[in-house]
Amino acid sequence: MEHKQRVPFKKDFLWGAASAAYQVEGAWNEDGKGPSVWDIFVRKEGTTYKGTNGDVAVDHYHRYKEDVQLMAEQGLKTYRFSIAWSRIYPSGNGKLNEKGLVFYDRLIDELLANNIEPMITLYHWDIPQALMDQYGGWESRQIIEDFNDYAITLYKRYGDRVKYWISLNEQNYFVSYGYETALHPPGVKDRKRFYEVNHIANLANAKVIKSFRKYVPNGKIGPSFAYKPYYPLNSHPDNILAFENAEDLQNYFWMDIYAWGKYPVTAWKHLEENGIAPTIEDGDFELLASAKPDFMGVNYYRTQTVEYNPIEGGVGVGLKNTTGKKGSTKDSGVPGMFKTTENPHVESTNWDWDIDPQGLRVGLRRMATRFGLPLLITENGLGEFDELEENEIVNDDYRINYIKSHLEAIQDATADGVEVLGYCAWSFTDLLSWLNGYQKRYGFVYVNRNEESKKDLRRIKKKSYYWYKQVVKSNGESL
Ligand code: BG6
Repeated sequence: MEHKQRVPFKKDFLWGAASAAYQVEGAWNEDGKGPSVWDIFVRKEGTTYKGTNGDVAVDHYHRYKEDVQLMAEQGLKTYRFSIAWSRIYPSGNGKLNEKGLVFYDRLIDELLANNIEPMITLYHWDIPQALMDQYGGWESRQIIEDFNDYAITLYKRYGDRVKYWISLNEQNYFVSYGYETALHPPGVKDRKRFYEVNHIANLANAKVIKSFRKYVPNGKIGPSFAYKPYYPLNSHPDNILAFENAEDLQNYFWMDIYAWGKYPVTAWKHLEENGIAPTIEDGDFELLASAKPDFMGVNYYRTQTVEYNPIEGGVGVGLKNTTGKKGSTKDSGVPGMFKTTENPHVESTNWDWDIDPQGLRVGLRRMATRFGLPLLITENGLGEFDELEENEIVNDDYRINYIKSHLEAIQDATADGVEVLGYCAWSFTDLLSWLNGYQKRYGFVYVNRNEESKKDLRRIKKKSYYWYKQVVKSNGESL
């Protein structure tokens, strides 16, 4: 679809940037915070790049005022951040930690005082370790109640000041990395447990959305889905089928639940056939269908090309590039369904992620057509090595190009008829990349630290910071 002209961004378009508690806050054991699963996992040898952890991260907990000042100077309209559950309930449930609540009170008030709309993520992967110890975390239905209680606490406390809320961040990733590839805590490789956990997470997501209606009736809530739209390698019918399999099993398996409370039939059949379908109890599908989100949050970084993968001897879990050594990713797949393969038509990053702005447009169109919901880009950005040059300069033109081309893709999707509420770049400051340490940088603001040392953690505005500032100021007219 071609258009003679680009359409302007809506007047109230939410120009923003994002972060997550574990990746920025630090202060991992301060002011009554309990340990999260990540605080424990990173201490096991070989789990993260060079053994990095979020003990200090980029020290946002102590420097939030400085960070908010930088956001204000850049002109951000919104800042998306997550709340660390174990700051609020150090044991996951039971005793509330007032000091934890106060930290986010202050952050929210600071944002509002600077005309920045706070956007809260309820859960960005850091479940309290105590809940793992009590009942195995997401493997028990008890978590549905505990997560709901935690969410209600936040709704009551911040609902008067915060309009936009994200329920679960990238459920598809925290569940698959936790229980299929074992790359995230609790480091399990078991597809049956993966789908059981995922179903429970779906129910928890639905439950907090239902509660939201009662406690924050004028707010907006939705999940953030890690969306990698798939492409078939070519028009060979076997590859087309592999593409359909991947879309159903890897994308619609989550999004259909969020929008309609239903699993796609073919993906469900695959689970049944393999004896890995989750346990369904009475009332599950009623709950799922009754919790429609206000928008779909989209975390978009790349597309993924797939091809046929035989059931016998096919490719399974592959290898992830966590070092920035280009070409070190190994293809992965599900035998009998699909496997990933290289897309010869696009460039990729040093971490082997395809750079494909048009893929964002494709994805947004697919979502808008299928679900008819407004879309909110809750993450998009480029993780690369950055160099701090003399005179405090970071020339990250590659990041500018990446974000610019993705914003153009959003404009094109808008011209195609898609409703996009806003755009949160990942990330505002540099931060800890879960498995890739501090060298894979995403921020508009450089943070002076590396894997070996926290140095002075000083903030330095990158070239992209100034560029995005004028994008926001011109409401996207000058990209
Ligand atoms: C998303 C997460 O998966 O992508 C973020 O929500 C994460 O927390 C981001 O940091 C980039 O991924 P990575 O692996 O490059 O840090």
